[in-house]
Amino acid sequence: MMFAKKRKKIGYDECAAFLKQRLPFIPETVLVLGSGQNDLVKMFHIVYEISYKDIPGFGVPTNEGHLGRLVVGLSGENRVLVMQGRLHYYEGYDVDEVVFPIRVFKLMGIRNIILTNASGGIKEGYSPGSLVLLKDHISSFVPNPLRGKNDARIGVRFPDTSDIYDKAARAEISRRCQEYGLVVKEGVYVQTPGPAFETPAEIRFYGMIGADIVGMSTACEATAAVHAGLRVSALSCVTNYASGVSQNKLTIEEVDENTKKVSEKIEKILKIMIEVYSSEGAKQ
Ligand code: HPA
Repeated sequence: MMFAKKRKKIGYDECAAFLKQRLPFIPETVLVLGSGQNDLVKMFHIVYEISYKDIPGFGVPTNEGHLGRLVVGLSGENRVLVMQGRLHYYEGYDVDEVVFPIRVFKLMGIRNIILTNASGGIKEGYSPGSLVLLKDHISSFVPNPLRGKNDARIGVRFPDTSDIYDKAARAEISRRCQEYGLVVKEGVYVQTPGPAFETPAEIRFYGMIGADIVGMSTACEATAAVHAGLRVSALSCVTNYASGVSQNKLTIEEVDENTKKVSEKIEKILKIMIEVYSSEGAKQ
């Protein structure tokens, strides 16, 4: 078993300067691949890759399902920086370590971020295999990544979070998905600290306070990204009914297997999301 290793603290600037020097160019959009989604990197023509362990300041994922590699890829003509694997709070990293790359990306001049994850379905209609564009989130059960001294170069002390998941981009993504016959829902995501799957009583509670789906990532990254002025979209793959919604016991193997089953569809939707962010029409 690997544990989260505390690495030497490196400033955002130092890391941004390192990456700017190494990367062949700076894409406008970052894509973060979540649990069981490492293989989606195959949708890109890879022009550069570097392991997180070789990037000063980056933490290294301890989960098998998260490779820990930063890739510069092309999807058609569109340039994307891909995070193949992310850090989680439950690994023992502090939330500000989890969101470290996002702040570095901001300083590098990146403008958009697409987050992906696996989730459990709480509400009716959010069944395994459903793909969900986040329209809002509940992050009250994990520490806020903006806690502590504010870095004004990155964002303001008290950012507005009333529209984290870029409404205009979401509408355009949904419209294009429909055009291609791809069914995609919208929903509210709740981030839990993990790593235990939730109890049925917790899931009933999350349902009552407005969550449609549940997972152990994403909301803290989206908060850090909106603070940094990035435009944010997130796609969740529902891999299982949440605890107590069905009688099944939850396992990480089920999460990974069910993600693979819909990976073709995820790939198509991600392509659309990348196109929307790469087209002039979506720019503010
Ligand atoms: N709960 C939390 N995280 C998850 C789940 C779940 O049911 N499924 C996939 N990630």
